[in-house]
Amino acid sequence: MNANGSERGNWTKLGFIFAATGSAIGLGNIWKFPYITYENNGGAFVLVYLICIAAIGLPIMIAEMILGRKSQRNAVGAFKAVGGGKWKIVGGLGVITGFVLLSYYSVVAGWTLEYFIKSVTGAFDGMDESEVGKLFGDFLKNPVKQISWHAVFMGLTIIIVAGGIVKGIQRITKILMPVLFIIMAILLIQSVFSEGFGQALTFLFRPNFSELTLGSVLEAVGHSFFTLSLGMGAIITYGSYMTDKDSIPKSAIIVCGLDTFVALMACMIIYPIIFTFKISPESMTKSAGILFSTLPIHFLNMPGGFLFGPLFFILVAFAALTSTISLLEVVVAYFIDELGWRRVQATIGLGIVIFVLGIFSALSNGAVPALSSFNLIGKSSTAGFFNTLDYLVSNWLLPVGGFFIAVFVGWRLQVAVKDEEYYKGEKTFLNYRAWNFLIKFVAPVAVAIIIIAVIFGREF
Ligand code: TRP
Repeated sequence: MNANGSERGNWTKLGFIFAATGSAIGLGNIWKFPYITYENNGGAFVLVYLICIAAIGLPIMIAEMILGRKSQRNAVGAFKAVGGGKWKIVGGLGVITGFVLLSYYSVVAGWTLEYFIKSVTGAFDGMDESEVGKLFGDFLKNPVKQISWHAVFMGLTIIIVAGGIVKGIQRITKILMPVLFIIMAILLIQSVFSEGFGQALTFLFRPNFSELTLGSVLEAVGHSFFTLSLGMGAIITYGSYMTDKDSIPKSAIIVCGLDTFVALMACMIIYPIIFTFKISPESMTKSAGILFSTLPIHFLNMPGGFLFGPLFFILVAFAALTSTISLLEVVVAYFIDELGWRRVQATIGLGIVIFVLGIFSALSNGAVPALSSFNLIGKSSTAGFFNTLDYLVSNWLLPVGGFFIAVFVGWRLQVAVKDEEYYKGEKTFLNYRAWNFLIKFVAPVAVAIIIIAVIFGREF
């Protein structure tokens, strides 16, 4: 029961897996991972990333799930319910992070809808690479389109979250996630037969450690938080609707495994195109570049390209939607549990506030000069309101949140609580002692290092 006396609801079997996998798999996997892996020269970076997922991401995910299921509360309430006292500030930070992250994430998510429609209606037919690039540039500068697609995406997110856990989020993720995997499989089959596939595999899986820098290691740590939706209570919140029938470590292993699998698959779909068409590395590293300004044209050049373009963009849109609903749920669950708001009112009201905040990001990629040149941090990669928020969230808010969650669960939470939650449901190969070691020592130390490195400008 909540403060307003209503039922919170619970996932049915597999419901948590669908929802949490949906939250994890998103723009982080399909856009950001292929791009940062390319920038960091593949191979060795991929290996370091896999180690980060297993040694830092997985234990923190288990920690968030324990906090959520034990307390049956939102990110703030969870700390209060298990005797966390002041630690509830960590949850509060998470709710604020959810607000900010969703506001700009929805903007890029909206672009995927425009590109889906463009590729269906054949807008890229007959264009060359520079024309598609220009089309993207013009789109970014168009304030009406930027705000409208952001509004549409927030609208979809609000409708689903307003439906609640069972009738909204679970119902939609149970459909979208299988569809997402089917589309991926189709795109992958096509890519296996393309010329550049072998080269893509070599790039991804042959480590060359001489190319690995400390900066890449730190980037891998930061990205493992983002991609697994950790550090801001999203998994605490989703975990709070879990029943005792599910095994926490087993569910976490499945979610981490699927998320990693999709990130690697996205590379295997995107890289052969890059290698086949010999796309210049510069266009890869122009952040949003690859997805929106280079890929559309190359899909068209492939056999059956009229089909693969739309399939690809709808895939990214679905992946983004199952992530935006988890972000909104973090915020909404807090207002329902702690302040007694009703779900529908909370979802619409907060969704609108987030939409309004997102307008600043929507207009900061070229539409409004003052917002586009805004640069609080002063790095070239943080130019613009949008990039500033992403920098703050990815490099500060998520790692700091993750650090405190690891310390709280590792050192403060009663051993009896951890032990009991860990072993409910089936057993898994990752035993309690191994996890306990990771959450007490490995994860906090590694995250502390990244935070210190960010403070020192990632140079030492
Ligand atoms: N994990 C998502 C992605 O990879 C983004 C995301 C959704 C997220 N919910 C989150 C990131 C909560 C951090 C925290 O795109």
